[in-house]
Amino acid sequence: MAGILDEFKLDGKIAWVTGASYGLGLAYATAFAQAGAKKIIFNDINQELVDRGLAAYKERGIDAYGAVCDVTNEEQVNAFVKDVEEKFGTIDILVNNAGIIKRIPMIEMTKGQWDQVINVDLTGPFVCSKAVLPGMIRQRSGKIINACSMMSELGRETVSAYAAAKGGLKMLTRNICSEYGQYNIQCNGIGPGYIATPQTAPLRARQADGSMAPFDRFIRSKTPAQRWGTTEDLMGLAVFLASPASDFINGQIVYIDGGILAYIGQDPSQLDDSKMQDVKEENADIKVGDK
Ligand SMILES: NC(=O)c1ccc[n+]([C@@H]2O[C@H](COP(=O)([O-])OP(=O)(O)OC[C@H]3O[C@@H](n4cnc5c(N)ncnc54)[C@H](O)[C@@H]3O)[C@@H](O)[C@H]2O)c1
Repeated sequence: MAGILDEFKLDGKIAWVTGASYGLGLAYATAFAQAGAKKIIFNDINQELVDRGLAAYKERGIDAYGAVCDVTNEEQVNAFVKDVEEKFGTIDILVNNAGIIKRIPMIEMTKGQWDQVINVDLTGPFVCSKAVLPGMIRQRSGKIINACSMMSELGRETVSAYAAAKGGLKMLTRNICSEYGQYNIQCNGIGPGYIATPQTAPLRARQADGSMAPFDRFIRSKTPAQRWGTTEDLMGLAVFLASPASDFINGQIVYIDGGILAYIGQDPSQLDDSKMQDVKEENADIKVGDK
């Protein structure tokens, strides 16, 4: 007898995760493969990263196809999707994961830097969603998951472009739901809190004397769980939002933040450094630019 857990299976599905050579994208794609997805598709910005991704998937025993494709370049994205659909069939699941952040005070940020962040973090999801939607409409089913952020809700110093892009992505999520829900297409967002990845490693590095970095202390004091999230923390929700179990959930952003958005936080000076565990960080050796 089929049971509720069968609703979470992704058997036979083709899942495209953008920018998934490492970091959160690799975790989402790994989760999909573990849930039964037939083929994992990913792209990244250069061949070195694609090769790194292919090696990572191979090591995990995952059948993945990867190629260079810049999510901000509509021609490249359309050619990538055409090629994938010819090779493997209609894309059932898209995760708009590729993203960048530039931490620069707004009055020092050039318009070029602003445009870069908006292009990757907001225009990229528009371009990639637009490319897969016709196939999803034809088959009358599809799942789009957008990589939102707590910055879809909150502001902070130095991240004006990122917060504007992720806030915009929240509304793009609702709009895709509004326009294409009639075709049994669900578009939802995952809003990670502070997750240990190469993107956030500089914020977490221990001080020369071994004590917690001030920002690390700040985040732990704001989080009821008193820790950073791990990539594993995100995998269950990704599978849920990609699976039939969430077929009537549409246009929602679910935050995985250890409770930050619900909590005013404690006095950071009260945190006991000696009791704080460093989180396990995947791909810690990767050096990421523009962080
Ligand atoms: N790490 C966190 O704590 C955190 C928190 C909230 C939201 N997010 C969001 O989740 C997503 C993944 O985060 P991450 O920490 O794994 O990031 P990351 O920087 O580690 O990885 C991002 C990936 O996107 C790729 N990429 C960048 N620009 C691209 C482009 N134009 N075309 C194709 N690929 C491109 C990068 O090469 C990289 O592989 C991002 O959208 C990020 O903003 C991350």
